[in-house]
Amino acid sequence: MKHRVSLNKPGGERWTGIDVPAGRTILETALSEGIDYPHGCRSGNCGGCKSHLILGEVEMSPYSPFALTEEERGRDLILACRSVPWSDCTVQPVEADEEAVHASRRLDCRVAGIDRATHDIRILSLEIESGGPFDFTAGQYAALAFEDLPPRDFSMASAPGAARLEFHIRLVAGGQVTRYVLGSLRIGDRVSVNGPMGTAHYRKGHRGPILLVAGGSGLAPIKSIAESALAGGAGQDMFLYYGARAERDVYLEDHFAALATRHPNLHIVTVLSEPDAPTPRRTGWLVDALTADFDDLDGFKAYLAGPPAMVESCTESLLSLGLARRDCHADPFYTEAEKESDGSGRGTA
Ligand code: FES
Repeated sequence: MKHRVSLNKPGGERWTGIDVPAGRTILETALSEGIDYPHGCRSGNCGGCKSHLILGEVEMSPYSPFALTEEERGRDLILACRSVPWSDCTVQPVEADEEAVHASRRLDCRVAGIDRATHDIRILSLEIESGGPFDFTAGQYAALAFEDLPPRDFSMASAPGAARLEFHIRLVAGGQVTRYVLGSLRIGDRVSVNGPMGTAHYRKGHRGPILLVAGGSGLAPIKSIAESALAGGAGQDMFLYYGARAERDVYLEDHFAALATRHPNLHIVTVLSEPDAPTPRRTGWLVDALTADFDDLDGFKAYLAGPPAMVESCTESLLSLGLARRDCHADPFYTEAEKESDGSGRGTA
């Protein structure tokens, strides 16, 4: 007894077909026939063989929820390495550009640097001691655990492959973890890092202009995306809009100015919402600066990160300016208190 499984290429184009014998998985049959089907662990742990089940039925043997979440399973995504067909099927690997597929890791790290970025933001550098390599896509985040405090999610600010992991930690009112980081954490302390996670990550296949929108420590994932894109040779226009309250809240300005000097396609606009002194900078809300500067965002790709109210208002405006919803990748930074009140988002407290 065999089932015919049609394989599409990640973009949807017909690829080939295989006859999968009873009890065998789609992946093992494809590989045994010399087909270069995307995969990693072959044991349901890495998500490297994640695929769309377009037609038919499969039975999946146990797998890690890190490799395939319940929500993904509900969208008819499967792991080819765990899937035995029960009927003729059509499957299609997810596009590398569409989903970030990385093994979930639990890393033991040591604090290598704690730098003051602003009065309430610290730049934390971590050296991986064990559990690596840590593969992620720019824009993703991880759960950091300090001492015996509960883990909290923070975005990687370093580009993938950098020697150290960088995180930007902002003091959150009433947040015990951020208070600990700003007050008690020392060089050499151990930190456990669990990840990567998140879908608001860089899509390198996009060739049109890129709009990067960051508020406060939302600059972290945006920095990772900008550095990763530029290092990868992205030559299209890239507009980085950074919103801060006042002059004392602006950070890494020299770093970004140097990046823009090396890459003239990077354009940076800083907007202060509550300047406490006369300033030559743009002032007002970030959303107003965006709507003043752009009138048609068709063909753009936008990445947004920062306080939920800012991310939501900017997202709404960008969509009204013609940005396609599929081209809008937003990462609102909910505090633990906000998560408790609305049950969504990720924490920064
Ligand atoms: S190959 Fe790793 S989950 Fe299938």
